[in-house]
Amino acid sequence: MPGKDIAIDLGTSSIKIYFDGKGIILNEPSVAAVNTDSGEVIAMGGDAYKMIGRTSDRISIRNPLTGGVISDFDLASYIIGVYMKKIKESKVVMPRAVVSIPCQITEVGKRAFVDTISSAGVRKICLIEEPVAAALGAGVDISAPHGTLVVDVGGGTTDMAVLSLSGIAISRSVKTAGNTFDESIIKYVRRKYNLIIGRRMAETAKIAVGCVYPREELATFRVKGRNAMTGLPQWADISSDEILEAIIEDTMHIIHVIQEMLEKTPPELVGDIYGDGLILTGGSAQIYGLDKLVSKKVKMPVHTAENPQDCVVLGAGKAIRFIDDIENKAYGVVNPLSAAY
Ligand SMILES: Nc1ncnc2c1ncn2[C@@H]1O[C@H](COP(=O)(O)OP(=O)(O)OP(=O)(O)O)[C@@H](O)[C@H]1O
Ligand SMILES: [Mg+2]
Repeated sequence: MPGKDIAIDLGTSSIKIYFDGKGIILNEPSVAAVNTDSGEVIAMGGDAYKMIGRTSDRISIRNPLTGGVISDFDLASYIIGVYMKKIKESKVVMPRAVVSIPCQITEVGKRAFVDTISSAGVRKICLIEEPVAAALGAGVDISAPHGTLVVDVGGGTTDMAVLSLSGIAISRSVKTAGNTFDESIIKYVRRKYNLIIGRRMAETAKIAVGCVYPREELATFRVKGRNAMTGLPQWADISSDEILEAIIEDTMHIIHVIQEMLEKTPPELVGDIYGDGLILTGGSAQIYGLDKLVSKKVKMPVHTAENPQDCVVLGAGKAIRFIDDIENKAYGVVNPLSAAY
């Protein structure tokens, strides 16, 4: 019965909801603006994102997730509740949901995802680990007895796994991802130019001219903020090479974790992976040159998935058809879902 179940990717940077038979119907930044006196949420998603760095004393910007896990349960539940209500207006009654979770999450962390989503009136929740969803979303046949390496570089975490037979053979998760790049750019600009810039400015510069491998043509971006000494408005034109310098260490950290995981991967699977290459997904997979750098360092082909930031939610959406099996306790090796609540 298509058209009533949903998939949810509750990410550190964005919340995405996929509707069976329809595709992605919601994609909003994971952020809210809260009145600090009353605790009331005054804006969320895109509206709250616009307020980052522009709030007054009485409004604070809050993120329901930090480093891939739910850090503010009440806020996360509130946001999901509002978005679910929106969807229900488009005629869904008590849907079932496939929800993506980071790999290597604690039981408490997992429970927070389940409780958040069920508080919004979801009848049945099935979990899928992010790299499994990412691979499905990237169009990989993960059910084969064949190794696939997926690296999802998101906002709060980089999740990576070697998959075979719809399951995870080995995985790693590090809290170095897009947000880390933004923070490193903020620090770099402050150190070099005595200039204090905000999170949004750093992210905009990163998306506009950032790279982790030298661009063929140097690009520049004007960042605006205030002088750290005088407090006066100031700007600087920063180049793509400067952003590279600011974020290369973070990127190398991710690459070292990939290398370390490969060293521990069973040899048969390593053989498959070196033949096929590695698949990059997640919003931060779009940073210029990441594919080239990873390929050079791990010495294998690297493919960036199409629409990398949507792979997890699309893959979770594809896994909707496995809900019936997991509900009937038919836990076959081909079921990519990891648990049901
Ligand atoms: N073109 C781009 N170049 C570089 N980075 C980008 C680009 N577009 C988006 N990003 C970054 O991608 C990140 C968001 O990716 P994504 O939507 O996959 O994260 P998420 O799923 O919400 O987070 P997580 O999986 O870590 O919980 C942000 O840090 C954003 O700045
Ligand atoms: Mg993600």
